[in-house]
Amino acid sequence: MTRGITDPDAPIAPPEPPLLSASQVGGQRVWTVSRHADVLAVLRSPSFRSVSVEERIERIAGRAGRDYRHLLALLRGTMIFQQDERHQDSRRRVRALIDEALARWPAARLQAEARRIVAALPAEPGEIDVVPALAEPLPSLLIGEALGLPPALCLALQKRALAVTQSWLSSMALRDLDRLEAEAAELRAMMRANRAPGWRIGRLAEEASDDAIDLALFLLLAGSHSVAGTIAAALDILARQGGLQARLRPDRALGADFLRETLRLAGPLRRLNRRVAAVEAEIGGARILPGDLMLLPIDRAHRDPAAFAEPEHVDLTRKGVVLLAFGSGAHVCQGRVLGAQEAEVMVQAVLERFTLRPATDRGVLLAHEDWRTFYRLPLLLHRVDAGDGASPSAVGDLPGSCPRHGPGILTHANSQEESGIG
Ligand code: HEM
Repeated sequence: MTRGITDPDAPIAPPEPPLLSASQVGGQRVWTVSRHADVLAVLRSPSFRSVSVEERIERIAGRAGRDYRHLLALLRGTMIFQQDERHQDSRRRVRALIDEALARWPAARLQAEARRIVAALPAEPGEIDVVPALAEPLPSLLIGEALGLPPALCLALQKRALAVTQSWLSSMALRDLDRLEAEAAELRAMMRANRAPGWRIGRLAEEASDDAIDLALFLLLAGSHSVAGTIAAALDILARQGGLQARLRPDRALGADFLRETLRLAGPLRRLNRRVAAVEAEIGGARILPGDLMLLPIDRAHRDPAAFAEPEHVDLTRKGVVLLAFGSGAHVCQGRVLGAQEAEVMVQAVLERFTLRPATDRGVLLAHEDWRTFYRLPLLLHRVDAGDGASPSAVGDLPGSCPRHGPGILTHANSQEESGIG
C-alpha cells in the first residue's frame, strides 16, 4: 500500500541522477533533480529562473472565462514566483522589515517570550497537540508584530493564506480554483479592513496599497508557517529519539547543530518552487534545453549519501553542511537567520521544562505536495524533574549566543550566502 502524503513516516525516495519524466506537460520536458549537488547547481545557475504559477492560472482563467483577479493578485505578491525588478524591489522592502524585526527581537527577548509560552502550559501537560500549543505562537507573534497585526488575527489570516497555496499545485479542478478565488478575495478584504494605527504593512509599499497587502500576505505565511513547521518537526524528532533530549538539555551549544539536522531531515518544504531553463545548460551530465522544467525535491537531496554520510542519522557533528532548506541563489530565504533563531530558542525553552515522548496518536501532516508540516502532532509532555536537566530558573543566556542575534545556525556553511540583491 502506498503511504499517503499526510503520513509523517512515509518513506522518502533516495536521490538519483536527473530524471526526465515520461509524461511531458504541454510539450515541455520535465526533469526531477534530486541529487544534492545537482539541486544546488540549478539554484545557483543564472541559466534557470523561478517559475510563476500566475501565468498558468491566467491561461486557465482565459480559457474557462473565469475572473480570478484576487487569486492572481496574491500570486503576484508571492515572492518566490517574482522576477527581475519586482522581485528586487520586494527583497529590498522585506530586508528592511526583517532587519527591524531582528533588532526588536534580541536573543533575550526571544528567550523570554519562548519561556512565557512554555510556562503557560499546565505544570504536567500530559498529551497535547504541540502544533497550536508550542509551534505556532512564537512565529505568529513575531511576524504579527513586524506587520502590526494582532497575533490571533495573524494566525487566522495565515491559515487561510495557507489554503490559497493549494493554487501552487499543477493539477487543480476549476471548482477548486473558484473556491480559492473566493478565499483570496476574503483574505484581501480582511487585510484591508484591519488597517489600524500601527499597521506597518504600508512600509512594504506606498500607502498600504493592494500590492503591499499581497506581499504582506506572502510574508505572513513565509515568516510563520515555515518556522512553526520547523519547531514541530524538531519536537517530533526529540520525542522519538529521547537520547537527543538528554544530550541537548545540558549542552545548549548543540542547539544549532540539532536544528540543522531537523531542517535537513524534516524541513517544512518537501520541494522548492520549480525552475525553468532560460538557456541550454548541463546538470549532472544531462543536457537541459531552454524551456525545460526542473522539479527540486529537497527532501530527497537532503538524504544524498554523496553529501551526507549515513543520511538518515541525526548527526550533530556534521561539518560544512550546505542546507537546501532555505533554498539558494536569487530566491534564498530572507528570514533564515530570524527563523532559525526562533526555532532554536523555542526548542530550548521546551527542553528546559519538559521531557517529550511520542503519544499513541502519531499525528498527521498537512495534505500538501510542497509543505511538509504537521497539521496535528500530539506528544506526551512531562515536567523535567530536578535530576533530569537544568531547572528553568537556573538557565541564563544560551552559551555561544551572539549577543544581538542569539544562537546560531549562522555558523553553517551556506548561511553567509548572499544572492546579490539580498
Ligand atoms: C526555519 C524557517 C524557514 C524556512 C525553512 C524557510 C524556507 C524558505 C524557502 C525554502 C524559501 C524559498 C527559496 C527558494 O525557492 O530558493 C524561502 C523564501 C522566503 N522566505 Fe523563508 N523560511 C523560513 C523562515 C522565514 C522567515 C522567518 C521569514 C520572514 C520573516 C522568511 C521570509 C522569506 C522570504 C521573504 C522568502 C522569499 C525570497 C525570494 O523569493 O526572494 N522565511 N524560505
